[in-house]
Amino acid sequence: MDLTDGRLLITGGAGFIGTHLTERLLANGNDVVVVDDLSNGRESWVPDGAELIEGDLTDPETIDAAIDGEIDGVFHLAARKSVKDANPRRQFEANTAMTYNVLEAMDDAGVSEIAFTSSSTIYGEAPRPTPEDYAPLEPISVYGASKLAVESLLSTYAHTHGMTVWNFRFANIVGPRLRGAVIPDFVEKLRADPETLTILGNGLQEKSYMYLEDCLDAMFHVIEHADRPMNTFNLGTRTTTSVDRIADIVSDELGLEPEYEYTGGERGWTGDVPRMRLSIEKLSGLGWDPEFESDRAVRETARDLVAEAD
Ligand SMILES: NC(=O)c1ccc[n+]([C@@H]2O[C@H](COP(=O)([O-])OP(=O)(O)OC[C@H]3O[C@@H](n4cnc5c(N)ncnc54)[C@H](O)[C@@H]3O)[C@@H](O)[C@H]2O)c1
Repeated sequence: MDLTDGRLLITGGAGFIGTHLTERLLANGNDVVVVDDLSNGRESWVPDGAELIEGDLTDPETIDAAIDGEIDGVFHLAARKSVKDANPRRQFEANTAMTYNVLEAMDDAGVSEIAFTSSSTIYGEAPRPTPEDYAPLEPISVYGASKLAVESLLSTYAHTHGMTVWNFRFANIVGPRLRGAVIPDFVEKLRADPETLTILGNGLQEKSYMYLEDCLDAMFHVIEHADRPMNTFNLGTRTTTSVDRIADIVSDELGLEPEYEYTGGERGWTGDVPRMRLSIEKLSGLGWDPEFESDRAVRETARDLVAEAD
């Protein structure tokens, strides 16, 4: 069993990445149970064939009801994911409590395999490209701090409770159904005002964007090829795309030539890491490289989102 067989539980499976992951697992012949409180996911996105349990995972009873002894492994995606969360304390508590609940329920039910979606934000403003063994880890957002706290909890369960953990540190993952990120934000703003686009910061922020299909391919490749108790891998692309370039690509896909206005400053908001590029040499060493580089991932996503909004 290696998280690709049997009856799998996906927390946060009604969200952007979770619904695509669910589709993939169903297509591979798995049974899929989705647990999501629909705070940022949509019931209509959950593919036919998956069982949806609507519930808040910060309540231990939600996961106890979902892990019934028939589950073979867990993809743990549920999180409050905004770096701009209006209630950071609640975000930290929710992201850590959800994970503790999932791990305790897995332990009680004898389920030992879990994939977790961590984030580049755990590295803070580290030199680039940032490898997995970079230290010291100094996140600059509560979201990043919550991911780092969760990683340490997962490590504890991997090393003392016999679990196998695949810990994925994502760059920016983009694709169909993406919400609450720069590409959908620009599509929305330009539809409302085709003449002027307001850009947060100075437009020079440079980050790595990875296309959703590449992200899922990479996750499955790592799950199939890495089998230590704790398997930590960066997932991203070797290139970056600036916010100005994203504005150009989105405008181009909409057939517009707007004026850009800037709110100023080197970062979009407090806690924003203006430059991010992860080393993917560890992933590459396992024999996998992304198909789309960063600009291509952005363009494909702009195209996807423009088509969705039509
Ligand atoms: N999209 C990215 O670029 C990116 C980058 C780094 C890490 N990640 C991580 O990947 C995972 C999936 O991200 P996404 O972009 O699909 O986000 P998303 O918000 O679309 O998905 C997260 C899901 O979790 C659910 N959820 C939140 N709180 C919950 C709770 N208390 N109980 C039950 N469900 C709850 C939401 O309703 C949502 O459907 C998250 O853990 C996120 O932190 C995403």
